Order: sequence, then structure tokens, then C-alpha cells
Amino acid sequence: MAHTALADVIERGLSSVPKSLPPRVLYDERGSRLFEQITTLPEYYPTEAERALLTSSAAQIADATGMRTLVELGAGVLDKSRILIDAGLAGGTLDHYVPVDISVEVLEQSARELQLRYPSLSIGPREADFMEELAIGDLTSPVVLSFLGGTIGNLFPIERIDFLRRMGHAAGPGNYLLVGTDLVKDIDRIIDAYFDSQGITEAFLLNVVQVINDECGASLCTEDFDYVPLWDAREARMDLRLRARRDLDIDLPGSRSRCRIAAQEEIRIEVSSKFTLEQVRTELQVAGSTVLDQYSDGDFALTLAVVDS
Ligand code: AVJ
Repeated sequence: MAHTALADVIERGLSSVPKSLPPRVLYDERGSRLFEQITTLPEYYPTEAERALLTSSAAQIADATGMRTLVELGAGVLDKSRILIDAGLAGGTLDHYVPVDISVEVLEQSARELQLRYPSLSIGPREADFMEELAIGDLTSPVVLSFLGGTIGNLFPIERIDFLRRMGHAAGPGNYLLVGTDLVKDIDRIIDAYFDSQGITEAFLLNVVQVINDECGASLCTEDFDYVPLWDAREARMDLRLRARRDLDIDLPGSRSRCRIAAQEEIRIEVSSKFTLEQVRTELQVAGSTVLDQYSDGDFALTLAVVDS
């Protein structure tokens, strides 16, 4: 079987101590569908909270920036994009929309739909693993480079500053960053958002077992793992893991190697950091951007910043 780049990443993650895999292993086709389902769960508040904030602040964002180009990282299904696009078009400034995503299928399908709805808008989808490399090319200023959904919370603090700095370079001095972040709040509500009563989030994480099998030719069973959502109070983040129920010997035919997982051993899949408003401002400042506005309902925040020259 073909040894893909993702297979490499997975094998390294399973051989490291402690074991961890990058969150993108969550987003194969089935995983992406499960995530879409998560966003409609009553317990998973961030999606609706962000949508409401976008709706109430889009005109202000369009007005404050005069955006000609809107870039969206991790654009996904693009349903939220419309709110900002509508505002940019109503303001009479927007003419380029650049959705960037790791999944070509989702991207192309969504771009086609958007093009039908906005015939005059120039839409230039880019397929990229932007966590690895943020090369978007030349953009027409003023640019708003958005990173929504709270996905920045998947990164560790040092990585976040580095990523925000790279976003600043990609947008360019005098252009704008728009970042969505989930906020620190009542712990039970946070935990419920990652441990929903229908077990969708559990299925989303356990799907990684299937991804390991598909990518690496392994033959693991979902039943051999438990989903473990931990709240890390010190780091203010959810820490989502899979824990082996018994000793497992993973055969990785792709690399003709094996790897062991001991009973109770955990594989970290994703962290999801929760912020304070002030922390978001500070991180952007450290990364070379100055915050102009923050929109928040107390649960979630949208932060608009201008890239320093
Ligand atoms: C898409 C990264 C924002 O961290 O809340 C949802 C992913 N993981 N439930 C998040 C996720 C489990 C989500 N992000």
C-alpha cells in the first residue's frame, strides 16, 4: 500500500513518548461529517456563538477594514463565510474571496456553490495544510485574513504566537487579522461541549482508530479504546485522548514496523485551549499585531487586529 505523508506522521506519533497525533487525523471524510454534526449539538456552543457574533459585527468589520480580499483559513463548508462576504459586498469593497482548506473535495464543492451565489466575486480556493505552511501568495489589500471556529486553540502557546506571526506576514503590514477564540467559562459547560450526550464527539475521536487503519494498513479495533476528554485546568484547555483498554501490538505493514501500546496508555489527539479576552489581545500584540476591536458574548470572541508595520 502507498505510504502517504499522513501515514508517516501517524507512525511517528504512535512511536513517540508520550504518544500523540496531530488534530488533522480527525478530518477524513467521515470525521469531517461527524464534526459537522458536532456543530449542531446543543452542548457544543462555539459554532452558534461565533455565528451570532459574526452576524452582529460583520458590517462593522467590513467598514473598519474596507476589505477587498477576504481569506479564510480552514474554511470548511463555508456557511459562515457568507456572513462576512455579504457584509463586504454590501460595503462595496470586497472583490476577492480566498478559502483555504486541507480538504480539496469540501473546498471545491463549496467554492462552486458560492460562485453561483456570488457571480461577481472572484473566488480562488487554495488547498493547503496551513498549519504546516502558510503561503497564500499575492493578495489585493486591504486584506482580512480570518481564522475562525476557535481552531487556533488547537495550538500550544508557543505555536500560537508563531502562527499568528505567520498570519501577519501572509496578510502583510496594515492588513487585518480576524481570529475566533473560545473563552474560559464554567468548566461543566466546557466539558459537556466535548462529552455530549449523543456520543458524537466520542465517535469523532474514535474515528481516528479507523484513520490509522486506513492510512497505515493497521487493524486496530475501536472497541480497544476509550475516549478520554480531560480538562487541564492549569493550561485552560481540553485535552482529548484515546486510552487503550488492553496491551496492543500495532502492525504497520506500510513501514514494515510494529509499535506497542500498553493497557491504559493514552494517545493525545487534540487540545482545545480556552482564552480570556485579554490573553487574546496580548498574544496578538506579541505576534506583531494590534487589536482594534473585540466582539464577545462572554462565551466566545472575535478579535479584529491590524498587522503592525
Ligand atoms: C474545530 C478545533 C474548533 O476544538 O472545539 C470539537 C474541534 N473537537 N469537538 C474544537 C472539536 C472536539 C474544535 N475545533
